[in-house]
Amino acid sequence: MISASNISLRVGKKALFEEVNIKFTEGNCYGLIGANGAGKSTFLRILSGQLEPTSGDIIITPGQRLSFLQQDHFKYDQYTVLDTVIMGNARLYEIMKEKDAIYMKEDFTEEDGVKAAELEGEFATMNGWEAEADAESLLNGLGIETELHYVQMNTLLARRR
Ligand SMILES: Nc1ncnc2c1ncn2[C@@H]1O[C@H](COP(=O)(O)OP(=O)(O)OP(=O)(O)O)[C@@H](O)[C@H]1O
Ligand SMILES: [Mg+2]
Repeated sequence: MISASNISLRVGKKALFEEVNIKFTEGNCYGLIGANGAGKSTFLRILSGQLEPTSGDIIITPGQRLSFLQQDHFKYDQYTVLDTVIMGNARLYEIMKEKDAIYMKEDFTEEDGVKAAELEGEFATMNGWEAEADAESLLNGLGIETELHYVQMNTLLARRR
């Protein structure tokens, strides 16, 4: 569960939010609706810890983790739907890329071996081996069926038409 407790944000003299209290509970899918400039992205930046509120707290159940993607319509075009979900966990995705780059090397040095072992350790700690299965069940839970998980993001709109 993620909850926002008495979140307020002041930008200069203007209060963008005052005393926001909300609980995001398991099994639900939430949408945040508001006019352009109302503060949706700013609220999400507070939720994800990228921005400190003026007052209040964000509480995430211990052992749980928040993944997030950027508000950029084209950023993920060249990635599959599944990879895009995994990219929500930026560190995990970075480890996967670094590991792949090392294993692709033809002149694999001892140093590369040490680095790979370190990355494998961190990957395992982050439940990296379950990341694909987790992303699949997350997508299925949102009603995005398995046949769409391996297509590129930029083909989704064309498919819907
Ligand atoms: N660091 C900041 N300093 C000053 N003003 C800011 C800052 N961050 C956001 N704002 C202002 O806060 C308001 C909310 O912006 P935000 O980007 O959160 O809106 P939004 O609801 O996501 O809009 P959109 O629908 O266009 O994505 C805007 O008026 C913006 O100019
Ligand atoms: Mg926004």
